[in-house]
Amino acid sequence: MGNNNIPVIAIDGPSASGKGTVARRVSESLGFHYLDSGTLYRLVALVASRTGVDLADEEALANITEHLDVTFEGTEIRLGSEDVTDIVRSETCGNGASRVAAHSQVRKALLGRQRAFRRNPGLVADGRDMCSVVFPDATLKIFLVANTETRAQRRYKQLMGKGVDVKIATILQDIRERDARDSGRSVAPLKQDADSSSIDTTLLNITEVVNQILRQYAEICTKNV
Ligand code: CDP
Repeated sequence: MGNNNIPVIAIDGPSASGKGTVARRVSESLGFHYLDSGTLYRLVALVASRTGVDLADEEALANITEHLDVTFEGTEIRLGSEDVTDIVRSETCGNGASRVAAHSQVRKALLGRQRAFRRNPGLVADGRDMCSVVFPDATLKIFLVANTETRAQRRYKQLMGKGVDVKIATILQDIRERDARDSGRSVAPLKQDADSSSIDTTLLNITEVVNQILRQYAEICTKNV
């Protein structure tokens, strides 16, 4: 592969545990590249829904995955020339992503694309299987957790902030279903990797979580000097 000596901070965790915001801030702080792997699954779900592909049709979904024409420009996500930054964050795409992500052929088709993000000076990657499958040799592995009610509150605030009218009970139900599907699937299920360190973010704010991760990373760098 040739890029195995480039540092990676892998951050996994369930839906709305704060991974995305935390991972992006850590990457900005270190000047590292950032991979939001969930977006790739969300994009596959989006293209499938637009082209009428059934979310159970593994072969057709793998084909969509192989041909995904996506570019990440800062915080902007483009599918071909279309800006899909907002639409991929919708709950519909999130739920679709969690169905699409259960297919091993889809996951396999995304592996090379995800590993290509590992470029100098380093990468922060977030998702469900960054520690276990995509970057098993990551420099630092983090598993973020938070209780279900807190995660539902966070997602609620995030959606209301975007002007999306939702009920907290619906979000709670969605998160429970997504957790069950992500943890229960046979391929790359969401679980804490043996050599990752867990951070419970229930009572922590974003800055506190970011600082904990930066501290852990600095300790590793000091040891390796
Ligand atoms: O923001 P949130 O955590 O709700 O979702 P996300 O990280 O964008 O991921 C959406 C869905 O994609 C998840 O529910 C997972 O099923 C799937 N996913 C995955 O299987 N593996 C990854 N590395 C990232 C996401």
